Amino acid sequence: MPRLAVLGHPVAHSRSPALQNAALAELGLGEEWRYEAIDVAPEEFEARVRAMPAEGFAGANVTVPHKEAALAVADLASEVAKEIGAANTLVFGEEQERIHAHNTDAPGLIATLPGSPRARRALVLGAGGAARAAVWALSAEGAVVDITGVDIWNRTGSRADAVYAELSRVTELGGAPVAAVRQDAYGIIVNTTTVGLHGEDPFEHLPLQRTGFDHEQVVVDMVYGDAPSPLLAAAEASGATVVDGLEVLVQQGALSLKIWTGRDAPLDVMRAAARA
Ligand code: ATR
Repeated sequence: MPRLAVLGHPVAHSRSPALQNAALAELGLGEEWRYEAIDVAPEEFEARVRAMPAEGFAGANVTVPHKEAALAVADLASEVAKEIGAANTLVFGEEQERIHAHNTDAPGLIATLPGSPRARRALVLGAGGAARAAVWALSAEGAVVDITGVDIWNRTGSRADAVYAELSRVTELGGAPVAAVRQDAYGIIVNTTTVGLHGEDPFEHLPLQRTGFDHEQVVVDMVYGDAPSPLLAAAEASGATVVDGLEVLVQQGALSLKIWTGRDAPLDVMRAAARA
């Protein structure tokens, strides 16, 4: 029985086992495959991953805080994972010592976006691992969504400068790290900060105005909970198209599942399971 897992710390809150097991059942693989959540402390990550092939694991998702370590432990990595500097998907090859790393966060984000109606800039808020994947995705796959450049804002400006400098080496960003934000300049705004996770008011902590969105914008909030985030609620009230973190999770999970099983994932089943 091939095993799959998500490795994180903490990981108990993860919706990945629910949505992946629902997808496996829908594909008729439920008897054969099983997907579980494994809490791994950072100091144990490498040893845990190296033990997995012998324990029957075919692959794993990797989440906070292990995405950089997942790339480091791999014998082979996709170009995308290398350029982003992080991996969220591991595949254990036939020869047991072979670990392959992929990044489906970036293409997963792009898959959530409707084509924007006219070329405008994109704004990424934040400068952690999630921001790096978003900036890379919007830049490298920008043609898909018609973006003219990617700006980065972060509370600690020096971290935005560092992400910008690092990713400029591998992709044409065409934007800038920004200290002030002109909200109406953007066709796409992606929040990768943790603001909102603990009930903070995004309009106190982020450089956005509650009424500053417009109907031609797409607003993505990686934060997810049971109710729509205050950021998305305000964007939607202004007529913007909104994408929540669960949709991003479903899309990256669907791409990971395809890597492991070769099968197209049943997106609607995964969405329903993610929100159950
Ligand atoms: P990840 O790798 O998951 O993206 P991270 O590296 O912890 O996580 O990044 C969290 C992001 O949320 C950072 O951009 C952080 O800003 P700082 O770099 O200034 O710390 C941002 N963040 C967290 N709390 C915030 C707040 N109250 N206001 C603004 N930004 C905040």
